[in-house]
Amino acid sequence: MEIDVFTLFPEWFEWFQTQRHVRNALDAGARLTYVDIREHTPLSGRQVDDTPFGGGAGMVLRVDVMDAALSAHYRMDAAAVRDTRRVIALTPAGRPLDEAYVRELSEQPALTLLCGRYEGLDERIVEHFAGETLSIGRYVLSGGELAAMVVCDAVLRKLPGALGHADSAAEESFSDALGGMPEYPHYTRPAEYRGWKVPEVLLSGHHDRIKRWRQEQSRLRGLQRP
Ligand SMILES: C[S@@+](CC[C@H](N)C(=O)[O-])C[C@H]1O[C@@H](n2cnc3c(N)ncnc32)[C@H](O)[C@@H]1O
Repeated sequence: MEIDVFTLFPEWFEWFQTQRHVRNALDAGARLTYVDIREHTPLSGRQVDDTPFGGGAGMVLRVDVMDAALSAHYRMDAAAVRDTRRVIALTPAGRPLDEAYVRELSEQPALTLLCGRYEGLDERIVEHFAGETLSIGRYVLSGGELAAMVVCDAVLRKLPGALGHADSAAEESFSDALGGMPEYPHYTRPAEYRGWKVPEVLLSGHHDRIKRWRQEQSRLRGLQRP
């Protein structure tokens, strides 16, 4: 798995890639690259954006700048990159990220994430360079960097070796093991705190009962809408 993130703020990712599961995934062979869009701009003064045609607030990331960054990095026509890998524009109104989408992405050999800033991406970037749009939720962030980290985190933790304990990803919220339901509740020591007791079944040592209780809790949680 290879993920390239096109961003105006590559330094945002320095901390991210020091996180243990990200490091584990990288050590196990995944690759994470941050491409500084500004480094490739053909415009003077390191310009990357411009005012929107038709008026309005904010600045729009220019299509020629993204073209230059993609073609320099991949050494091919930027419009052809999406024929070789999944190129995803991060946008608030894109396809909502959920477990099925994350799984789908984690099975890809290569992803490219395009981060917007300010007013967003020139729509021609979305139409001609990206093959799809992705949203991490129906709200607006200041830029695509946090959204890219969410995608990378969710995808990389699915890769073999990313998590310390292999079972952690196999049986968690929305996994097949739980029939797509949310995970059951967890408890640890102390068994009683301020009079709040851990469910007795979890202290029973009876594996079948515990398994059934967890499945039932998971099912009940699936019926509740927060
Ligand atoms: C301030 S936003 C632009 C919002 C845009 N003007 C709109 O109203 O939809 C700047 C950039 O942040 C990223 N972004 C913001 N919210 C996002 C979300 N919920 N999911 C994915 N990316 C998001 C996108 O890359 C976007 O181009």
